[in-house]
Amino acid sequence: MITIIQATEQDLPLIRDIAYQTWPNTFGEILSPDQISYMLEMMYSQDALTTQINEKKHVFLIAKNTDSTEYLGYVSYELDYTGKPLTKIHKIYLLPASQGKGVGRLLIDQVGHIATAHHNTHLGLNVNRYNKAIQFYERMGFSVVGTEDIDIGDGFLMEDFVMEKPLNP
Ligand SMILES: CC(C)(COP(=O)(O)OP(=O)(O)OC[C@H]1O[C@@H](n2cnc3c(N)ncnc32)[C@H](O)[C@@H]1OP(=O)(O)O)[C@@H](O)C(=O)NCCC(=O)NCCS
Repeated sequence: MITIIQATEQDLPLIRDIAYQTWPNTFGEILSPDQISYMLEMMYSQDALTTQINEKKHVFLIAKNTDSTEYLGYVSYELDYTGKPLTKIHKIYLLPASQGKGVGRLLIDQVGHIATAHHNTHLGLNVNRYNKAIQFYERMGFSVVGTEDIDIGDGFLMEDFVMEKPLNP
């Protein structure tokens, strides 16, 4: 059984740890090692994560095995993104050994329930255009609604698809 808990500031080192274990595997063939290091620092430093939770109203959910202290991965989301009835999924990462076992579906469903209860009508996210997670999102009911190239500084670019999924009220 899987338990999903809402993270607090105390869990931020764990979230960073999962990201550092998962990113090389996820982006090793897509991004340069320099860009991976740059983005991890930008998004997962203690300061960056604290700002996301306390100021940007990102909520992190952590999936763990119910029977043990083994952590599997996390999702972060933001309700009412840019004042719209849309819940933005900012991050979803499962440890390599925990992928392909239905945990990603559980996390997306959980965010969907929370978003619906909050009267949001859509889930939205950005995904790298070369990430095979796109097929997972399509399976979850998302479709591509746009493309975005985002300059993140130091000469690095995020080449994303924007995807959305309508929620049933
Ligand atoms: C993407 C990710 C969150 C998906 O979670 P997961 O637990 O591995 O996926 P699930 O096992 O819940 O899969 C749910 C469904 O999607 C399908 N699916 C998952 N990955 C897929 C893929 N790469 N291609 C096609 N289908 C896929 C599964 O077959 C399953 O279908 P089913 O329910 O009909 O059997 C996870 O694999 C992960 O963390 N990947 C690395 C990090 C990453 O890329 N994150 C996204 C950044 S934007």
